[in-house]
Amino acid sequence: MKSGEMHLKRRPVGVPVAEDFALVSVDVPPPGPGEVQVRNLWMAVDPAMRGRMSDAKSYVPPFVLDGPMEGPAIGEVVASEDPGFAPGDLVFSRLGWRELFNAPAGALQHRVRGTLPPQAYLGFAGPTGLTAYVGLLRIAEMKDGDVVFVSAASGGVGSIACQIARIKGHKVIGSAGGARKKQFLLDTLKLDAAIDYKAEPNLTKALAREVKAIGATGIDVNFENVGGDHLQAALALANKRARFAICGMISQYNVTDAPTVPRNLTMIMTKSLRLEGFIVLDHMDLEQQFLADMTAWYEAGLMRQAETVQDGLARSLDAFFGLFSGENLGRSLVKLG
Ligand SMILES: NC(=O)c1ccc[n+]([C@@H]2O[C@H](COP(=O)([O-])OP(=O)(O)OC[C@H]3O[C@@H](n4cnc5c(N)ncnc54)[C@H](OP(=O)(O)O)[C@@H]3O)[C@@H](O)[C@H]2O)c1
Repeated sequence: MKSGEMHLKRRPVGVPVAEDFALVSVDVPPPGPGEVQVRNLWMAVDPAMRGRMSDAKSYVPPFVLDGPMEGPAIGEVVASEDPGFAPGDLVFSRLGWRELFNAPAGALQHRVRGTLPPQAYLGFAGPTGLTAYVGLLRIAEMKDGDVVFVSAASGGVGSIACQIARIKGHKVIGSAGGARKKQFLLDTLKLDAAIDYKAEPNLTKALAREVKAIGATGIDVNFENVGGDHLQAALALANKRARFAICGMISQYNVTDAPTVPRNLTMIMTKSLRLEGFIVLDHMDLEQQFLADMTAWYEAGLMRQAETVQDGLARSLDAFFGLFSGENLGRSLVKLG
């Protein structure tokens, strides 16, 4: 059978462009012994994929050139030569960017069909949701009364972090780019305050204004997705002993020059702050507890998935580029099935 695959043709310099990639048609033979054949229904795109397009040393190996890229996907088993999987099973894998593939059974994980929509396993009930959950509950050790500041708050991880913090009863300030996203934070996610950072000449002043408007003295938890001037503003407005969950720094992923902000790192010492970076893959021990909480919150109507969906593998690059142009809102998904 034929399958489409999105290959990396060359390593991008700065912002990735379409010419860095190629959509390739390949033949997929029947699965061999111990293998399972899967048709992907959904794949997701992540900012971390930008890191894997470069050959710089990181916590995961770089994508190979002229081969299919990898990423989270939900698919349906088509044929199986392994007793653990049967046609029709719903499976999670890291083998996105392709329509149909054979993989050893060990590369697949069963997911429950029916309770949650399949694409939720790429969003609030998948690694994206777990990232938000780990960052707030384990890394930042969010506790009663904390004021929480979330950057890239309307995105995949950010929108879930905002919802978890609201479910736990916290005051939440979110930052996102553009009037549409600011309204989403206020009207849909019901945050206490929201900042359209693209409309603010000084982000620190904007955060100070919103902190005051919600009757707070500062922030106690920063869920950092952006870095740069967002981190600088969070440091400036941090209360004593605030905790920073450093989840990502997307403002730095495509830069070719050294960053000039934050300029106020001494506040880490003067305010006794704790900044801790984390990688979700190191916290998979929380997965079962996380899935139980997320399912309960979803069924109670407290958790929803905002998503931007592109249709078909040919549009997958639009989904990926949208992460950096800010065109996406919520989780960025590609429907393949
Ligand atoms: N530590 C981990 O294990 C882990 C796991 C998953 C993700 N992450 C990190 O979490 C963050 C969010 O990832 P996601 O998958 O949920 O993506 P996302 O938030 O859905 O999409 C990225 C968003 O970042 C914002 N952005 C892009 N360039 C920016 C810039 N220069 N300045 C400010 N904002 C910018 C855009 O929103 P605006 O329109 O609001 O600018 C865009 O919508 C990323 O930093 C990612 O690397 C970390």
